[in-house]
Amino acid sequence: MRRPSLPVLTALIAALAAIGLSALVVWNQLSNTTSSSGIASVVNFMPATAVGGSFSLTNSDGETVTDQTLAGNYSLLYFGYTYCPDVCPTELSNIAAALDLMKPALADQITPVFITIDPERDTPTVAQDYASAFHPRMIGLSGDAKSVGATAKAFHVYFAKVAGGEDDDYLMDHSGFVYLMGPDGALTTMFRPNADPERMASVLENFVERAG
Ligand code: NI
Repeated sequence: MRRPSLPVLTALIAALAAIGLSALVVWNQLSNTTSSSGIASVVNFMPATAVGGSFSLTNSDGETVTDQTLAGNYSLLYFGYTYCPDVCPTELSNIAAALDLMKPALADQITPVFITIDPERDTPTVAQDYASAFHPRMIGLSGDAKSVGATAKAFHVYFAKVAGGEDDDYLMDHSGFVYLMGPDGALTTMFRPNADPERMASVLENFVERAG
């Protein structure tokens, strides 16, 4: 192998310097998009329309759980179904991670709640077993089709059975927002799907701390 000549070495050093510079520029751009002032960091929002209201569902003890049962504390609601192949497990893991990242005294003021939009397969017990697998304090709720449908409607949750399935083997389409309800039972804020757990934790801490 021939030794590189001086001009070749000079060109090589210049090229490496250019790569280093562009790496720095890319790093800066990434840092900017993840900073707290960047648009990409907006994980929560308030909808333009009224969201929430009275609902009546059933827990695994057969007890009725309503919006009034949850009021008094903060609650973090997520609508999904236990047969969901990927979105629901990811979202519920994010919620659990966010709660675990929070100061315990603040996290304890929030009740995480999983509400099924697939009552046909998800009985209250199935919903509770699923919820417990993500977080020890997470409540799983179900109900008859009418109660579940009315609850989803109050929260503007879209859900529909995907065509092509058969009997009890089917997928559900559904929206995936996370709702923080205040101790007064009204919506405090909503999180976009796939919110980063660390950002969700800091937003939740701000709301709970501010109120306390
Ligand atoms: Ni899902």
